[in-house]
Amino acid sequence: MWPNARLINLFDIELPIIQAPMAGSAFSDIVVAVSEAGGLGSLACALLSVEQARGELETIRRKTSRPINVNFFCHQQPPSDPAREMNWRRRLEAYYVQMGLDHNATVLSSNRAPFDDEMCDLVVEFHPEVVSFHFGLPDRNLLARVRRTGAKIISSATSVDEARWLEDQGCDAIVAQGYEAGGHRGMFLTQNVFTQVGTMALVPEVVDTVKVPVIAAGGIADARGIVAAFALGAAAVQIGTAYLHCPEAQISPIYRQALKEAKDDETAVTNVFTGRPARGLVNRLMREVGPMSDLVPEFPLAAAAVAPLRAKSERVGSADFTPLWAGQAARLNRTLPAAELTKQLAAEALEKLRFLQTMASPEVLAQAAALATVGRPVSR
Ligand SMILES: Cc1cc2nc3c(=O)[nH]c(=O)nc-3n(C[C@H](O)[C@H](O)[C@H](O)COP(=O)(O)O)c2cc1C
Repeated sequence: MWPNARLINLFDIELPIIQAPMAGSAFSDIVVAVSEAGGLGSLACALLSVEQARGELETIRRKTSRPINVNFFCHQQPPSDPAREMNWRRRLEAYYVQMGLDHNATVLSSNRAPFDDEMCDLVVEFHPEVVSFHFGLPDRNLLARVRRTGAKIISSATSVDEARWLEDQGCDAIVAQGYEAGGHRGMFLTQNVFTQVGTMALVPEVVDTVKVPVIAAGGIADARGIVAAFALGAAAVQIGTAYLHCPEAQISPIYRQALKEAKDDETAVTNVFTGRPARGLVNRLMREVGPMSDLVPEFPLAAAAVAPLRAKSERVGSADFTPLWAGQAARLNRTLPAAELTKQLAAEALEKLRFLQTMASPEVLAQAAALATVGRPVSR
């Protein structure tokens, strides 16, 4: 049915559609809905405490017995750098003054802790069928513990080198995350955001390099994108932004409204919210301080100084200091419950694939065969 069934078979799912893990926006409701619909629902744990993650996993396992993906960040926690943090606070000082905030105000910043022993205990306890990582892979011991649970392990690559590295470490499949993607760039072998590759070029280049199945991510929001991903050699798609429009996505009304009105040229990659490059809808902080700033403390330390500004502006209904993560295809939105969206995307993609097959008339095939002989080395 699907041109490439490797990932469906590997994960034992019905549809080659993965709802992207989205820290802070996608919890048990959407995971259950997508997995029950036959896709793969993903729970992002980067912003959850161990207890919160446990609660979400208990709910998910109670409501579905279908395969799920549980996702973690695996960056190195940087040492604190008071001088750099002071510079960053100075850069933001005018906003603090404008908003009547104490310059030394702190707000409890979200977790963003890397995968550790405690989270690994949860993986052992709930044995998700798939475990995915962002920013590379955790250390060998943790990875070995995850592997012993029997989970399939995947991670994001933003270049051919990263894909090759992940395969060498034993990943079962690789998410090729193109530059169009919403949220944090999964990049881990480079810090150069300006040479990051778009989905259209990255997917076939990764497919040509690794033996494991490749999952295309970034800018895929409808059946056309799914069919294109298969044409590029992918075995599945990972879709984030399109799922943010679902009622199950837990995002604020201002975020939802901004997504609804998003145009094609209204996202940018920025580091001003967390210290790492991530794509979101352009807002005041990105426009005035970024989108990329040399002053930001290392990920995730930049977030602490932004947090009071964000909290205060959100209280008056403003998204000036709120990360509005979204990919370049945000405009291709439709608001449907997650299960319906998953099934509709799959049905429309299959319909499009069938249509393309019917185009392959005997004349077209003959023309293709004739063209294929052109330029072939002449045998001696
Ligand atoms: C709101 C949001 C949050 C995200 N959080 C995570 C995350 O926690 N872990 C992760 O691996 N990827 C995360 N991503 C990236 C997605 O896995 C995926 O690469 C991206 O959504 C694909 O591009 P698209 O948004 O254009 O569909 C996030 C993306 C968005 C939009």
